[in-house]
Amino acid sequence: MSVDLHHHGDRDVAPGLVDLAVNVRLPAPPPWLADVIAASLHDLGRYPDAAPAVEAIARRHGVDPACVLPTAGGAEAFTLVARGIRTSRPVVVHPQFTEPEAALAAAGHEVGRCVLSRESGFRLDPHAFAAGGAHADADLVVVGNPTNPTGVLHAAAGLRSLRAPGRLVVVDEAFMDAVPGETESVIGTDLEGLLVVRSLTKTWGLAGLRAGYVVGDPAVVAALRSVQPPWSVSSPAIAATVACLSERAVADAEAGAMTIAADREVLVRELASVGLRTAAPSDAPFVLVDTSPLGVGSVREELARLGFAVRRGETFPGLGPTWVRLAVRDPQASRAVAAAFVELGRLNRVA
Ligand SMILES: Cc1ncc(COP(=O)(O)O)c(C=O)c1O
Repeated sequence: MSVDLHHHGDRDVAPGLVDLAVNVRLPAPPPWLADVIAASLHDLGRYPDAAPAVEAIARRHGVDPACVLPTAGGAEAFTLVARGIRTSRPVVVHPQFTEPEAALAAAGHEVGRCVLSRESGFRLDPHAFAAGGAHADADLVVVGNPTNPTGVLHAAAGLRSLRAPGRLVVVDEAFMDAVPGETESVIGTDLEGLLVVRSLTKTWGLAGLRAGYVVGDPAVVAALRSVQPPWSVSSPAIAATVACLSERAVADAEAGAMTIAADREVLVRELASVGLRTAAPSDAPFVLVDTSPLGVGSVREELARLGFAVRRGETFPGLGPTWVRLAVRDPQASRAVAAAFVELGRLNRVA
């Protein structure tokens, strides 16, 4: 069955609803960051110079500047991969964020899917990409870590083991800065055959600015650079990138990651107390909830009537309408949505 690969959580939100559909952590950037962006507006008369962002990314991750490229959000990176990397057997590991597959398809590639099962806890078995495995001939593999929407955090060693001669492994780490300690990031000294996509959108409330970057094999990064439109990353996005990668901002993000972990525990507990389970243990700022105990259809519209916007599951390959993704918010919101699920169950029994 074909699904709308361009459907995103923002389309599941409507005015007046508590937004649990979109994973952006802040409604707006913090004041110190808004000030940095505002100050950059004085430079709008000049074409942007991405060099300070390149330097900041390289310093933050301890890699050579040749291994990094600022992009207009993580999303641009997927288009650059689709256009700049030679591939005849790309495979996307699903369920996951659908833009990488959409970008590859738009560039004319036939995209294979490695669909992880609920029974396996949506965990990747690297053997599927090894000799004799179903995807042994993949020359490009795209995998999210932690994965949107399942929340699963794959082991870095397993992801590195996917590498093979002539194969590029793209790891979407858009949510890695929400994982305390960024454990399992594959960014390190050995980047051969690897490309990591990062986003500044979620943690810093910058969805409208378009700021992200890639870190990876310098030959791959050079290929992406060669197809990136000139001045793709604006001066405000460059200023924000430098600011968000300062030591102070990275420490703030780490503190935020700890808060998310604590808030997520509350959400999972509240859901369990009303008989709902998550797909798998989540290490992300969202959880994927199995609503099948409430019926065979989607509960999204009924939840909206009760005041809550949640992200539908059925547009993710491998999932169906009985899955919804909930962003982790504060304990009060978690208790409120759990109460809404109870109300929904009661209404369904009465109907
Ligand atoms: C898993 C994942 N990767 C990448 C992105 C792209 O983020 P952006 O282009 O805003 O940096 C998103 C946005 O929703 C996402 O969920």
